Amino acid sequence: MAVMDAAFDPEYGEAWTRRQIGDALTLQNTHYLLAGRDGEHPLDGEEALGFVLTRGTAGEEEVLLIAVKPEARRNGIGRALLARLLESARQRGTSRLCLEMRDGNPAKHLYASLGFIPVSRRPNYYRGALNGPIDAITYTCEI
Ligand SMILES: CC(C)(COP(=O)(O)OP(=O)(O)OC[C@H]1O[C@@H](n2cnc3c(N)ncnc32)[C@H](O)[C@@H]1OP(=O)(O)O)[C@@H](O)C(=O)NCCC(=O)NCCS
Repeated sequence: MAVMDAAFDPEYGEAWTRRQIGDALTLQNTHYLLAGRDGEHPLDGEEALGFVLTRGTAGEEEVLLIAVKPEARRNGIGRALLARLLESARQRGTSRLCLEMRDGNPAKHLYASLGFIPVSRRPNYYRGALNGPIDAITYTCEI
């Protein structure tokens, strides 16, 4: 929750509450990874600087959230989380990852570099508190 609270711009209403996360984690097909400074699982006593949360069904997994604390960004933690996710999802028998992203989010560079391809656009899907509604772009990645 510390990463969640720091990472998401309140303008877009993308952060989940503790309760939403708690509920999601009780579901069997929900998976998460935490990352410390080197992108691997935090060492004992080390704070988490990033996380990724996914939900999977029948060979396809959706990336629900990925976040890295602002002060820890551009150090490869997001990339390491997605690389670990690709590997663990593959081991679970997942053949495709998908995700939905707010149009214009710089995370698109990260997704593209890992093989995610934009496949559709949902107009006005996200609310933007300051500049009005924003389209959602759906990506998939065959793994
Ligand atoms: C998206 C996010 C998780 C990326 O985490 P990160 O640890 O900074 O990512 P990395 O350092 O691994 O970046 C890998 C590559 O992605 C691209 N990238 C990441 N952030 C970028 C930015 N703000 N602008 C341009 N490119 C960016 C770059 O190509 C980068 O490689 P480089 O630093 O060698 O140029 C982080 O910016 C974040 O938490 N954003 C807010 C939450 C969010 O929008 N999540 C996605 C929607 S759920």
